[in-house]
Amino acid sequence: MIAVTTIAALREVLAPTRGGRIGVVPTMGNLHEGHLDLVRAARAECDTVVMTIFVNPTQFEDAADLERYPRTVEHDLALAEANGVDVVFLPGVEEMYPDGFATTVSVDGAITEVLEGAVRGRAHFDGVATVVAKLLLAVLADVAYFGAKDAQQVVVVTRMVADLGIPTRIAVVPTARDADGLALSSRNARLTAEERARALAVPRALAAIADASTRERDAAALLAIGRATLAGLDVEYLEIVDPDALTTLTTLEGAALVVVAVRVGATRLIDNVTIPRRSDP
Ligand code: PAF
Repeated sequence: MIAVTTIAALREVLAPTRGGRIGVVPTMGNLHEGHLDLVRAARAECDTVVMTIFVNPTQFEDAADLERYPRTVEHDLALAEANGVDVVFLPGVEEMYPDGFATTVSVDGAITEVLEGAVRGRAHFDGVATVVAKLLLAVLADVAYFGAKDAQQVVVVTRMVADLGIPTRIAVVPTARDADGLALSSRNARLTAEERARALAVPRALAAIADASTRERDAAALLAIGRATLAGLDVEYLEIVDPDALTTLTTLEGAALVVVAVRVGATRLIDNVTIPRRSDP
């Protein structure tokens, strides 16, 4: 495995591999099984697997959250190597945002205004779109792998890649969960045992909604079931939306995405489940 810190070095290392298929896994480090699922998906489909590790300051709306974000580079490099990553790109802030940096990639419309955009502010997705555009252009991979847990991020990045004509396919990998159902997240490490037990209401609420959706198609009725399961948690949003447009649904006709964000103590957790069309398997 080769680790590089500059875009120039990354391009040099990747130049001889361009005949084969290149996959990239963008991360902010603090790797867990969810990231490793992305690596495994990339490894299965690509000749060269690149991982990027960069805690992107522009997507954090809260300086304390950025400060607290776990940085575990040695552990990450060991896991990346053990799981077959060929090249790790580990830029510093000055490499990604050099002096005079003045460009923002901003995806307009409802897909960045609702849900995470409404809670965290538009600047969050500007930060994500800008850094992902830079990373994809630096790697010029054939495929980029993202986790389904960040469903809105996937929608925004997919739009951005299509709009800018970036020649990288966006592949979405199912959410990795602990045995108790909690979606894996770097933030889970901050939960106390008591908070973690309470956080399990999140996957339970999603499962209850998905289960009820086999007989109930009214979104308000389904959300009431979910809210009852989340009682006692600080719920930022629980919504049923169109999986592509992220517009609110009142009745489930086609596929639907149930999205939830809660705060458990000082920790913010997001999760989602896709409800297939009734005729889908
Ligand atoms: O999902 C993440 O870890 C980040 O938002 C990403 C895509 C690496 C951009 O910083």
